[in-house]
Amino acid sequence: MATLPTASSSGRFAIGGDLPVNRLGFGAMRITGPGIFGPPQDRPEAVRTLQTLRDLDIDFVDTADAYGPAVSEDLLAEVLHPYGSMVIATKGGLERPGPGRWVSNGRPDYLRRCVEESLRRLKVDRIDLWQLHRIDGKVPQDEQFGVIAEFLKEELIRHAGLSQVGVEEIAAARKVFPVATVQNLYNLTDRSSEDVVTYCEENGIGFIPWYPLANGNLARPGTVMDGIAKKLGATPSQIALAWVLKRSPVMLPIPGTGKVAHLVENTAAAAIVLSDEDFAALDAQARGEG
Ligand SMILES: NC(=O)c1ccc[n+]([C@@H]2O[C@H](COP(=O)([O-])OP(=O)(O)OC[C@H]3O[C@@H](n4cnc5c(N)ncnc54)[C@H](OP(=O)(O)O)[C@@H]3O)[C@@H](O)[C@H]2O)c1
Repeated sequence: MATLPTASSSGRFAIGGDLPVNRLGFGAMRITGPGIFGPPQDRPEAVRTLQTLRDLDIDFVDTADAYGPAVSEDLLAEVLHPYGSMVIATKGGLERPGPGRWVSNGRPDYLRRCVEESLRRLKVDRIDLWQLHRIDGKVPQDEQFGVIAEFLKEELIRHAGLSQVGVEEIAAARKVFPVATVQNLYNLTDRSSEDVVTYCEENGIGFIPWYPLANGNLARPGTVMDGIAKKLGATPSQIALAWVLKRSPVMLPIPGTGKVAHLVENTAAAAIVLSDEDFAALDAQARGEG
């Protein structure tokens, strides 16, 4: 393992100013069953994937109580606890009535139960980074933000973040508690959160892009991406990740997989150096075809 490229090549970012991690992390949503429900189909391979994280210097892992539900947090604790310098980020605020189904519940008493149960499952006294999975439109926003401020004050969580939000929502939340991270859908082909990335960069907030590997049809033979991938001896997924990493120093991608080979491949993207010309050419291709 020692000769494999590791996440160290992606550089460091200090979450909330005091929790440094390698920028390329791991998303633990895919170590669950189909529809992100129930146990993983290949549990031994999911366990091996988690066991490989430290070999690859991955020290930032993203999960949620809703993944499984509970399955991802339980497996992380089983394989990785005690975590040492590894930062475990989790989320709460979504209920799971069945496979592929996600229902917001932002009632303060429910959010408090989410935090208490994540603390128990992850076997920690304080959660490194707790994120509100979705702002619940049925509950006043300030009630949801207010209870997060309480979690911070009570030291149940060290830092707090938001997920799938716009700039106005982040600004409103920052009046109530310090927003350490924002986790939104973002990749080379889906740039709907571009303004949020810029806002996060301006304000030192970590931006965690989910579904970072997506490259749509950009890698068809003869395209710009195909040419750059071949020139650098990389796969299109690796080029997509390298592009996201270069986009901003606050970018903390969390590619997810339940397979060791995919984890190794994704982590190697940290060592790919895209030139400014290649970065701009991929941007232009994605905007042109997006
Ligand atoms: N905040 C939110 O609302 C939200 C929503 C979705 C996800 N997330 C977080 O973001 C993380 C990443 O999101 P994601 O899983 O949707 O997207 P992703 O990491 O971009 O893609 C994961 C998918 O690609 C496959 N894959 C991974 N590496 C591969 C490789 N090298 N070659 C080919 N296929 C590969 C995985 O399957 P295999 O298991 O077969 O490798 C899986 O189907 C999740 O784990 C979760 O922590 C957050």
